[in-house]
Amino acid sequence: MTSPNETLTATPHRLDKVSLGKIVQIREILLRTQAKGARVIRFESGDPSFSVAPHVLKAIAEAGAAGKTHYVPNDGIPELRRALAEKLRTKNGIADILPRDVFLTNGAMHALYVTFGTLLNADDEVIIPDPMWTEVAENIRLSGGVPVRVPVDAGSDYTYDPEAVERAITPATRAIFVNSPHNPTGAVLSRETLEALVAIAREHDLWIVSDEAYEDVLYEPYTHTSIASIAGDWADRVISVFSFSKSHAMSGLRVGYVVTKSAVLQERIQKLLRCTINGVNSLAQWAALAAVTGPQDHLQSMRAEYAVRRGLMMDALSQVPGVRPFNPRGAFYVWAELEPSIYERLGVNNADELSARLAANGIGSAPGDAFGEQCADAIRFAFSCDTEMVRTGAELLRSALSGEEAL
Ligand SMILES: Cc1ncc(COP(=O)(O)O)c(C=O)c1O
Repeated sequence: MTSPNETLTATPHRLDKVSLGKIVQIREILLRTQAKGARVIRFESGDPSFSVAPHVLKAIAEAGAAGKTHYVPNDGIPELRRALAEKLRTKNGIADILPRDVFLTNGAMHALYVTFGTLLNADDEVIIPDPMWTEVAENIRLSGGVPVRVPVDAGSDYTYDPEAVERAITPATRAIFVNSPHNPTGAVLSRETLEALVAIAREHDLWIVSDEAYEDVLYEPYTHTSIASIAGDWADRVISVFSFSKSHAMSGLRVGYVVTKSAVLQERIQKLLRCTINGVNSLAQWAALAAVTGPQDHLQSMRAEYAVRRGLMMDALSQVPGVRPFNPRGAFYVWAELEPSIYERLGVNNADELSARLAANGIGSAPGDAFGEQCADAIRFAFSCDTEMVRTGAELLRSALSGEEAL
């Protein structure tokens, strides 16, 4: 008799091509270590340490008390869609956005799933940077598409080279994916680069998918430009993705949104939302409404705190021979390229082994090859955990990577 698993694996399934993610595996090692009572340094994942603002928590309590716990519209509560359309027009400078162009999702992760699921046909190619946060390629694959990687490197501050993007275009290319500020490198694309990408998209009749999850996490003098705001007559071919996870530290509440003016995509999105989530958690949406309409002064203090953490990480990593950290311009990650000397010093063969060794010692990280094909000799450290953990962890990292402490 064939076993249940054999019947499942007899024919390939589309999910077989999708990885569960190395970062998840490292997180599990750290959580097990933590459960045994040992100290762990959470440098593996980007989850803001800040508390959700009191007025946001109050909105959840009030919505609950008022019985707003029933089914909500599939595409989002109208109050929130209106508020987000206003935010997109005024803060992001994206003209003509109406509430009907905004669709609430379970975080930006689900917004990407919805975007690629409604945009791509089988074997459509999407150009993405290499390295790139893992789940972008996975969501493209999940929708039957093919991620096509364009390497970005330290020499050009990890920004897309428009000529390299153009060279990667084939008859199967459907979209160019843009993520600024960028996870994992912290690169921020300049207005000129964004304009060049719009020109390429226009010339080759391509869509642009813009993931702006880190729009509020920036270091001076860098600022955020939404590509749709400068796309002129190509703005209708830009699909923008946003999140409440990083700006408002609402990662566990799972609220994101996708913005498109295409009537065809809007209809497909309605169907996909209906058949997947049938509306984002109602209380989380009332929380998001309070977050987007309430005071925004926390953004300034959050950025100041991240700047302190960035300084601690950069100070520590810059002192380690064989490690070349990039000073991030946005987001909360340090991406460091590794030279062979560090492997020799620590007795490991590659960044993967280094990351595993760090995890066994209670320090989280994410090895470069979790993010792409051309970046095996790199490692990412997230500094979104609290400042004291960053202070302690940065010093632990410095001494461990320098070989002062046995790893
Ligand atoms: C570039 C990027 N996009 C999207 C997301 C997803 O964020 P969420 O689903 O929490 O909104 C992340 C999370 O780390 C990210 O780094």
